[in-house]
Amino acid sequence: MESTVLKIEDLSAYFSEERILKDVNLSILRKRVTAIMGPSGCGKTTLIRCINRMHELVPGAKVSGRVFLDGKDIYTMNPIIVRRKIGMVFQKPNPFPTMNIYDNVIAGYKLNGIKINRNEQDRIVEESLKKAALWDEVKDFLYRKGTFLSGGQQQRLCIARALAMQPEIILLDEPTSALDPKSTSHIEELISQLKKDVAIILVTHNIAQAARVSDFTAFLYLGELVEFGTSEKIFSVPEDKRTEEYLTGKFG
Ligand SMILES: Nc1ncnc2c1ncn2[C@@H]1O[C@H](COP(=O)(O)OP(=O)(O)OP(=O)(O)O)[C@@H](O)[C@H]1O
Ligand SMILES: [Mg+2]
Repeated sequence: MESTVLKIEDLSAYFSEERILKDVNLSILRKRVTAIMGPSGCGKTTLIRCINRMHELVPGAKVSGRVFLDGKDIYTMNPIIVRRKIGMVFQKPNPFPTMNIYDNVIAGYKLNGIKINRNEQDRIVEESLKKAALWDEVKDFLYRKGTFLSGGQQQRLCIARALAMQPEIILLDEPTSALDPKSTSHIEELISQLKKDVAIILVTHNIAQAARVSDFTAFLYLGELVEFGTSEKIFSVPEDKRTEEYLTGKFG
C-alpha cells in the first residue's frame, strides 16, 4: 500500500535575503527510497535540512511553506522530536569521537536526556547495529572508539545511531561520496534493506546509484523542483529538457 509519510507544500528557503528553494512541492512515500538529484549548489542539502528543521539553525536563514509529517506540520512541533523522527546521515561519517561504539548508537537518548535502563540500551544497540548491517563486525568491540572503524563502518554506525531513535524517515546526504566502491555497494544494499521499515530520502550525485536504489527521483535545478516521478520513468523518458541534459552529463 502506498502511503504518504511526508508532504512538502510550497517550501521556500532563504539564506538572509537570498532565496535558495522556490516553492517546492513534494510527497514522500513510506517504505520507498526517493532520490534527490541536481547540479552542485541547486539546493539539495538545503531541502533536506528544511525537512528536519536544521536549516533554521543557521543565523539569518529562513523557511516558508509547510512540511507535514503524518499530517502534522513539523514547524509546529518540537524540533528535537522532529529530528528524532526524521534522522539524518551526512556525507562525511561523523561518529562522536570521544564515544565508544555502544555509546554512539544510543547517543540520541543520552544527549536528549531520555532515560532507559541498561537492558533496554543493550537491546537498542544490538537491534540498531543489526539493522545497519554492522553488528557482526563490531559485536566484540562495542567499547572501542567508533573512530577506529573504517569509513564505511563509521557511516553504518551513523546510520545505526539514526535508527536507534526509531525514525520514520532517514535523510542521507551523499552518504557514499567519501567511500570506496566496496563500502558504497554495502551501503546501497543496506538502503534496500532499510526501506522495509523507513522512508529514505537519498541525496546523490551518482546517477547510477540513484537508478539502482531509488523508487522515485526528484530533480532540482536552481532551487526549483523541475521534475518528480518514478525513477524508472525519470531515467528512461524524462519530461523536462533540463533533467535529460543533467542525466546525459551535459552539466552538473
Ligand atoms: N550557510 C550558508 N550561507 C549562505 N549560503 C549558503 C549556505 N549554505 C549554502 N548556501 C548556498 O545555498 C545554495 C544551495 O546550497 P546547497 O548546499 O543546498 O546545494 P547542494 O545542491 O546540496 O550542492 P552540493 O551538490 O554541492 O552539495 C548554494 O548557492 C550555496 O552557495
Ligand atoms: Mg549538498
